[in-house]
Amino acid sequence: MKKHLTAPFSNTPPSSSSDTPNKQWGGRFCGSPSEVMQAINTSIGFDKALWQQDIRGSRAHADMLAHVGILSADDLAAIHQGLDDIYQEIESGSFIFSDALEDIHMNIEARLSERIGEAGKRLHTARSRNDQVATDFRLWVRDAIDSLNRRIASLMQALASKAKHHAADPMPGFTHLQTAQPVTFGHHLLAYVEMLSRDRGRLADTRRRLNECPLGSAALAGTSFPIDRQMTSAALDFDRPTANSLDAVSDRDFVLEYLSALSILSVHLSRLAEEIILWCSAPFSFIRLSDAFTTGSSIMPQKRNPDAAELVRAKTGCIMGSLMGLFTVMKGLPLAYAKDMQEDKQPVFTATEAAHLCLAAMEGMIHDMHANTQNMRALASTGYSTATDLADWLVRVLKLPFRTAHHVTGRLVAKAEEKNINLADLTLDDMQAEESGITEDIYSVLSVDSSIASRTSMGGTAPQNVRTQAQRWLTLLAGETQTDTHINTQTGAPI
Ligand code: ARG
Repeated sequence: MKKHLTAPFSNTPPSSSSDTPNKQWGGRFCGSPSEVMQAINTSIGFDKALWQQDIRGSRAHADMLAHVGILSADDLAAIHQGLDDIYQEIESGSFIFSDALEDIHMNIEARLSERIGEAGKRLHTARSRNDQVATDFRLWVRDAIDSLNRRIASLMQALASKAKHHAADPMPGFTHLQTAQPVTFGHHLLAYVEMLSRDRGRLADTRRRLNECPLGSAALAGTSFPIDRQMTSAALDFDRPTANSLDAVSDRDFVLEYLSALSILSVHLSRLAEEIILWCSAPFSFIRLSDAFTTGSSIMPQKRNPDAAELVRAKTGCIMGSLMGLFTVMKGLPLAYAKDMQEDKQPVFTATEAAHLCLAAMEGMIHDMHANTQNMRALASTGYSTATDLADWLVRVLKLPFRTAHHVTGRLVAKAEEKNINLADLTLDDMQAEESGITEDIYSVLSVDSSIASRTSMGGTAPQNVRTQAQRWLTLLAGETQTDTHINTQTGAPI
């Protein structure tokens, strides 16, 4: 049993050393790290994802160093050439990443020195990996926000056009998952467009606040070199340099904000996923998903399972877990940088990938879903869903106080329930037995169509409202995709 417990772990003695000593601090260190030290310390396995941002930051830093006279023009040219070559190497897959060099920053810097010699060794002047990683990661999160933003907009477009199509199709509206009042399917879909628009707002807000450049804060205290932080900040499209070097290297608020925004987004997607799962189930049968977004069962031939929706619902756990993980990493850290912060990246990469996948799957399902409008309409009239309309008629026509109208209607519902019929099937005599002022006109408000058509209050479910809202969103989003050009951070070209 004991053996079983330890079996998955290697018995490498902690004293054994890795083959390669780290070249970057060869002066102070003559020994190599133990294998286990290297294994726990290395981050290249995941932070290689920052390679483009790292090269971009290095180019900006080198330009600035040359501009203030710290680097010669020749060195600058060599650095640019070297970084361009490294860019190609990584892009083509020929770059050899080394665990011994810990992370992306040292992998690239070491390779640069290997390729161009002395000039490469000058690049790290007035810079530390602490401000470097803070800068790279802000750039990465900023890019991630921009691409998620586009994906959310695209899902909103899918929802809004479906909503326009179903602007007048009734479905049962629920509270407590009990039939409440009829609404239109379009109105229901547009509720998610509103949520997603707030998600975009939160991401935009995060982007605005993170858009300050930490580069030049160095290890924690700033630098004695006459650097120009405005220049690097502008070159990297930041709004301004950060104001406090200690804060700049130890702040991960931007990551927490980003993951918070992603968590709320994932909650919205999960709620929609949950509804899709309900709507697909036989007792609801509101919608049908095609073979493209369902799976079968290996034993039950009749099954059509909404796995994609279930996985969107489940991935919320991964995204929210990333947020909780990082909160826990950050909560006890003294200023300034601590290696704990290296653990900030993986959860962000995983959560970002999950969010992309969920958004894409959701967009696919929205396009794919076929609404069983007849069934939704039929169900919309069950459960005494127009009882409120009856009460409202008593208030509007007979001038009853609403509370009294509520009681009268309640008695009529009880009567209908007793007879096992709909409200509209009660006779006028039945109605008048409860309230003598009721006339034939009451029947005009008891249909599902009259109910939804009457909800014309701002934000209400009336088909004309839904059509206007759906069109408003479609116009807004179409205008945005036309005018909103995004910049490729490497080439500077619009995408
Ligand atoms: N790989 C490190 C990280 O992601 C870079 C910063 C290392 N700084 C240091 N002082 N060891 O956090």
